[in-house]
Amino acid sequence: MSKVLVTGGTGYIGSHTVVELINEGFEVVIVDNLSNSNVDVLDGIEKITGIRPAFENIDCVDYVAMSNMLDKHNDIESIIHFAASKAVGESVEKPLLYYRNNLVSLINILQLMPVYKIKNFVFSSSCTVYGQPDILPVTEDAPIKVALSPYGNTKQIGEEIIRDTIYANPSLYQSVILRYFNPIGAHASAEIGELPNGVPNNLLPFVTQTAIGIRKQLQVFGDDYNTPDGSCIRDYIHVVDLAKAHVVAVQRMMFGKSKENIEIFNLGTGRGLSVLEIIKSFEKVNEVKVPYKIVGRREGDIEKVWADPTYANEVLGWKATETVEETLRSAWAWELNLAKRSKL
Ligand code: UFG
Repeated sequence: MSKVLVTGGTGYIGSHTVVELINEGFEVVIVDNLSNSNVDVLDGIEKITGIRPAFENIDCVDYVAMSNMLDKHNDIESIIHFAASKAVGESVEKPLLYYRNNLVSLINILQLMPVYKIKNFVFSSSCTVYGQPDILPVTEDAPIKVALSPYGNTKQIGEEIIRDTIYANPSLYQSVILRYFNPIGAHASAEIGELPNGVPNNLLPFVTQTAIGIRKQLQVFGDDYNTPDGSCIRDYIHVVDLAKAHVVAVQRMMFGKSKENIEIFNLGTGRGLSVLEIIKSFEKVNEVKVPYKIVGRREGDIEKVWADPTYANEVLGWKATETVEETLRSAWAWELNLAKRSKL
């Protein structure tokens, strides 16, 4: 059984990926400092898969702790690196925290990999690297735009660090960089899902929390964009579809299928939906009201972006398959389950 280290494995995308890895027969070690997640997520993973993955409460910024952890789990073959700070607004206020957390942890891991003869590396990147693309849908060849936030910059610099490291040591590493569009939804069991700290920044958790009454009203940031209904357009992808791409990426490197020792793939559906379309769809499929009002634009928002996933479909051999209806249903089921749990 091949062993995979998943940093940030108790987080939103991380936990869904751990489930898919276990389902495919991988042994998983999770490293997470629980800065934006809860250790109870391990219970959810165990309920779904019947297996409790090894867990180490470690900050990836701590080189010595990471090294000790790798001494203990000395047969890891691949790493999926999710652990990172990800709030765009906070990154503007605390840039050094973001550069430290996101870049030092990446450097530590890349430095430790050859020491422990770990070659395969999957990196969580983001469509944020494209900024507002000139051509839609956006392909992997689109130019990288100046980052609008320190967070976005850490993803761009992270990709460069990986590229330079592999260029200098092509025999020691191979990597798949995955550029995520907007992951939403939750596992079909509703045992794991997105659990934002405090007031959610992202659209879907705000929608579900408004629908259930935790928030009074959703604010729609702008209806004067150059889009059919005036609200911003994104490529919303089911988190389980996204999670499965990570398993495919690891298998690709393990079985020597990579065409180059660094490959980049867009993970999106190819379908752009506006904020208002998401709200309407959510209301319809879940038969619940989402009170909202249109307010001014949010600073730094991209008007419209959606993926051209052809390269991932054809070369990685992965495709997003969940419908948006099913995805929105899963997000609501998770919110309902959270409410049920908090009453127990
Ligand atoms: N939105 C609202 N109201 C809200 C929250 C969001 O109208 O309360 C809108 C936003 O203006 C945007 C859309 O919903 O048009 C999606 O917003 P999210 O915050 O969910 O997602 P973003 O596309 O802005 O952010 C995503 C990732 C970030 C990443 C960013 C880069 O979540 O990590 O893309 O563009 F940095």
